[in-house]
Amino acid sequence: MTIQEQLVDILTRTHDDPALFATAVLRVKLREWQRRFFQSIRDRLARGIRHLKAHLRTCHGAGKTFAVACLVLWLVATRPEARALTTAPTWDGVERLLWSEIARVYNGSLLRDLKFGTILTTQLRIRDGWYAIGASSDRPENLEGHHSPVSAMRIVDEAKAVPDEVFTATQGLLDAPETFDIWISTPSIQSGKFFERDVNGGDDVLRVVVTIDDLIAEGIPGKAEWKANAIEEYGGETAEEYRARAYAEYMNDAEGALFPLSWVDRAMAQEWTVEGPLLAGFDVAGSQDGDESVVAVAAIGPELAEVKSLTCWRERDTMISKGRARVAAGGVKLRVDGIGLGKGVLDSLVADGYPAEEYRASDKPHDTERFANRKAEDAWGVRRRLENGTLRLPADRTLKAQLVAMKYKPLPSGKLQVIDPSDSPDRADGVIIALAGRKASKSGGWLELIERENASRKAAA
Ligand SMILES: Nc1ncnc2c1ncn2[C@@H]1O[C@H](COP(=O)(O)OP(=O)(O)O)[C@@H](O)[C@H]1O
Ligand SMILES: [Mg+2]
Repeated sequence: MTIQEQLVDILTRTHDDPALFATAVLRVKLREWQRRFFQSIRDRLARGIRHLKAHLRTCHGAGKTFAVACLVLWLVATRPEARALTTAPTWDGVERLLWSEIARVYNGSLLRDLKFGTILTTQLRIRDGWYAIGASSDRPENLEGHHSPVSAMRIVDEAKAVPDEVFTATQGLLDAPETFDIWISTPSIQSGKFFERDVNGGDDVLRVVVTIDDLIAEGIPGKAEWKANAIEEYGGETAEEYRARAYAEYMNDAEGALFPLSWVDRAMAQEWTVEGPLLAGFDVAGSQDGDESVVAVAAIGPELAEVKSLTCWRERDTMISKGRARVAAGGVKLRVDGIGLGKGVLDSLVADGYPAEEYRASDKPHDTERFANRKAEDAWGVRRRLENGTLRLPADRTLKAQLVAMKYKPLPSGKLQVIDPSDSPDRADGVIIALAGRKASKSGGWLELIERENASRKAAA
């Protein structure tokens, strides 16, 4: 047999057996759950099912993206004229996550050795009308207009956060004689298309659930450490976010208390003091409606933090407020909430030569997977300090009332968002701004986490 004939032979034999294809053609070793999932596909094909729907709900890092990368290659390699479309919440997710995995697997495979097709950034092309391609709602030009006379596959990665219109726009692909419609995600709240399909999708949907314990039981490196760290990071074994990311359980989207009263009480009863670098958070109001301007001065040590003073006033003229803030901060750098009124105050402080920097609650957080914006991330940092008992707060009754009235809630994307009470919690905001961006996490912050992750990835490679 020539090498071409051998390829034809192996592609024929793996036509309905993605697990065998993964081993023989892609030369990968599947994880236990991936193998079972691929075998379920084989079993369904053997039963004559030609319209297969799958729903994968897993913990973080289970190998979902890897699994569907294998399936995309399987479909295109075994079925002339097949078309596969992959989508994700963002173009970045399509290109950087799924397609880099497809390229990696392709490059290690027999397909590459035999020059089967051409792999581009977000496309695998065999010839006209025979391909796999990536698309997303922020790059919608490739979403529509795919039809195959033979076989089509739709992959929806991180499906919980994929906009509804993407599902609608790509539905036309599924008019082929044979179809695979595969949705994968870590779960978020109990609504949206991903949840609905799980609950109301009917018996013909092939459902797979993978938990962190499955991965640990299989001995996958790093998973036990991930679990220990996640319990700590997400606030305990019963925390909703932990249950979702470790056990693939849907989150309850009820609002939760951001700062439980008992933690706030403890912080207000602490008696130690911190000799750390000082920073002042400045929440600016132009009071007509009773909002206060607040300056909170905080000292942040390596372990402990202390809010040393809280100065509050009502003043309509922001330039007068600027002067009061300078006195309250006493030379300490002011971090100013720069949205709305704050912008002019900040500019004026800078023009005066007073040390000042901007704070924007709506900025992108460091951890874009967990938090909707910077405020949510920084509020969560304060929550962690309160939970660990490493924060001292001034015993101020208004501050306490504002803190306990603040709530958090997961969005459909699974990201946490802060819900402010109807009365603007100015004192709480001042405290959050003063403590922002210096997380009291054991790991020493996100930069170190990223560095560690990169190092372990390199070591694994
Ligand atoms: N069978 C496998 N063989 C080798 N590496 C794998 C396998 N399954 C997953 N991985 C790797 O594990 C990491 C996490 O997998 P990924 O597919 O990104 O998880 P998820 O999408 O579920 O978060 C990736 O680096 C991926 O390459
Ligand atoms: Mg993934």
